[in-house]
Amino acid sequence: MTQKVALITGSSRGIGKATALRLAQEGYDIVINYARSKKSALETAEQIESFGRKALVVKANVGDTAKIKDMFAQIEEEFGRLDVFVNNAASGVQRPVMELEESHWDWTLNINSKALLFCAQEAAKLMERNGGGKIVSISSLGAIRYLENYTVVGVSKAALEALTRYLAVELAPKNIVVNAVSGGAVDTEALKHFPNREELLQEAKDKTPAGRMVEIDDMVNCVMFLLSDDSSMIRGQTIIVDGGISLLV
Ligand SMILES: NC(=O)c1ccc[n+]([C@@H]2O[C@H](COP(=O)([O-])OP(=O)(O)OC[C@H]3O[C@@H](n4cnc5c(N)ncnc54)[C@H](OP(=O)(O)O)[C@@H]3O)[C@@H](O)[C@H]2O)c1
Repeated sequence: MTQKVALITGSSRGIGKATALRLAQEGYDIVINYARSKKSALETAEQIESFGRKALVVKANVGDTAKIKDMFAQIEEEFGRLDVFVNNAASGVQRPVMELEESHWDWTLNINSKALLFCAQEAAKLMERNGGGKIVSISSLGAIRYLENYTVVGVSKAALEALTRYLAVELAPKNIVVNAVSGGAVDTEALKHFPNREELLQEAKDKTPAGRMVEIDDMVNCVMFLLSDDSSMIRGQTIIVDGGISLLV
């Protein structure tokens, strides 16, 4: 049996970490990527190793294309292959439109949108050596709806969803399947940066038609479905996991 390898960007915490652990339980060796949380990244690696899988920990700001190249060079050296790439890392500046500066735009778009293109290029080069692979990105409802203070992040996620469609077509001949999962509010550390966190959580609790908020595992379940062969005819789509909240006005 070939030992498959998965890279999950931003897997020191939150949805990325949960995805990395699930993939390790399914038998993948894991590349853990982080930008600042070294301790959490190393803890995630320990958990992965406790499942009997290998874990390569790579510090790389995915908003920096030189760091992306270095990360893939390390993956090539350590494993010589890549089968799954989960584009999960995200950051962003939460400000009203009139307070946004060029640096906020560049920071957010570089990490949330540009990274997908340049990681996908590198991932595709490794994946095609072994006959293909799967790419799933994580998006959010702000890509298609208004969310307060969310302008640059929403725009960056809209670009990510558009890029998902282009990658799906152009990487299909390499047998690489590309999709995205978009989520309603999930109570992770990411929400600490939202000025309206409490309000957002309360709204999600009160209004989600499914009767509860989206949890990390709901997102991971959908990612795992898109990484499975059961979904191989789904291409370039963004599947919304929000318990139905985006269906309301
Ligand atoms: N939470 C939500 O409500 C929600 C809803 C829908 C979609 N999402 C999406 O789900 C994904 C994960 O979100 P989360 O809530 O799990 O976030 P989180 O708990 O804040 O974790 C973010 C992860 O991304 C990493 N990261 C941040 N900037 C990075 C960079 N420049 N380079 C590499 N890694 C970087 C962080 O590592 P460091 O700590 O080392 O920086 C961390 O591992 C994101 O794409 C987010 O937009 C979240």
